[in-house]
Amino acid sequence: MSDDAQTIAVEVIGIEQVTPLIKHFKLAPVGGGSLPVFSGGSHIIVVMQGAARLHKNPYSLLGSPLQLDSYEIGVRRMEESRGGSHFMHDAVKVGSRLEIAHPVNLFGLDKIARKHVLIAGGIGITPFLAQLEDLHGGGVPYEMHYSVRSSRHAAFLERLQRREGERLHMYYDSEGQVIPFETLLATQPLGTHVYVCGPVGMINHVIATAKACGWPDSHVHWEQFSAPPVGDAFEVFLARSKISVHVPPDQSLLESIEAAGVEVPYLCRGGVCGFCQTKVLELDGDLVHNDHFLSDADKAKGKSIMPCVSRAHGKRLVLDL
Ligand code: FES
Repeated sequence: MSDDAQTIAVEVIGIEQVTPLIKHFKLAPVGGGSLPVFSGGSHIIVVMQGAARLHKNPYSLLGSPLQLDSYEIGVRRMEESRGGSHFMHDAVKVGSRLEIAHPVNLFGLDKIARKHVLIAGGIGITPFLAQLEDLHGGGVPYEMHYSVRSSRHAAFLERLQRREGERLHMYYDSEGQVIPFETLLATQPLGTHVYVCGPVGMINHVIATAKACGWPDSHVHWEQFSAPPVGDAFEVFLARSKISVHVPPDQSLLESIEAAGVEVPYLCRGGVCGFCQTKVLELDGDLVHNDHFLSDADKAKGKSIMPCVSRAHGKRLVLDL
């Protein structure tokens, strides 16, 4: 463990380029031993000290939950990276040291589901790899639907084919193949749960299709960690800390507050978990809500903000921090 009890010091013990855009990293605890237990669907936050700033990005754990001598993550190089994915791709080598936060699961498998239908798009396959490890041992039926641009973009395909056989259904955009969402969701037995991770359009389509087919909300699970969008620079005043913080266009509100030395609780850093919810005390301008946690009504009230992904523009923003 590092000095900071919140994080664990790890060393990169393996890197493999698995598609033109995705690298696979293996992380082992510095000094040996075991890493904390986790279940399929968990993610960790990787802390990266870049040249100009600290990055803290969430990545799903994709190795077996039974194998705790190392963790595995997959990192897609984002074209519009604010630095984190480029740092992982360009600066991190075998032997590099990183800090990681303890695993958190916001995308776990339902324990009483009668069947699981897993749907992934692109890098969205990563949380399912560990979930599939969990599903192997159980008697609950499941199927995996995985959509990619083309065969060269199908990360971890060999591993999936070897283990899943006929349970794996592949769809290649390059060959005009599309997941038949309507048929898939209209023909499942009662008690089935569906899980989706991938581009926002795919997630929204699955949620809407499931609703139209009469699925209860509790049986539809999705994971989308939005990278914090860039936006206009703005100033924020932290009322309890009595400091003003400048938020540059390419830094999130949460990152800017942390850089000023003020801690905000977080789990996902992607606008999903609700942990970073912060009270807005004064606002002269607009909040730019980018999270998936607050309801539309709460967003309209403007009394709360999720600083991991949301921003503001206007003359004044005062937060209860
Ligand atoms: S940290 Fe999860 S919503 Fe902000």
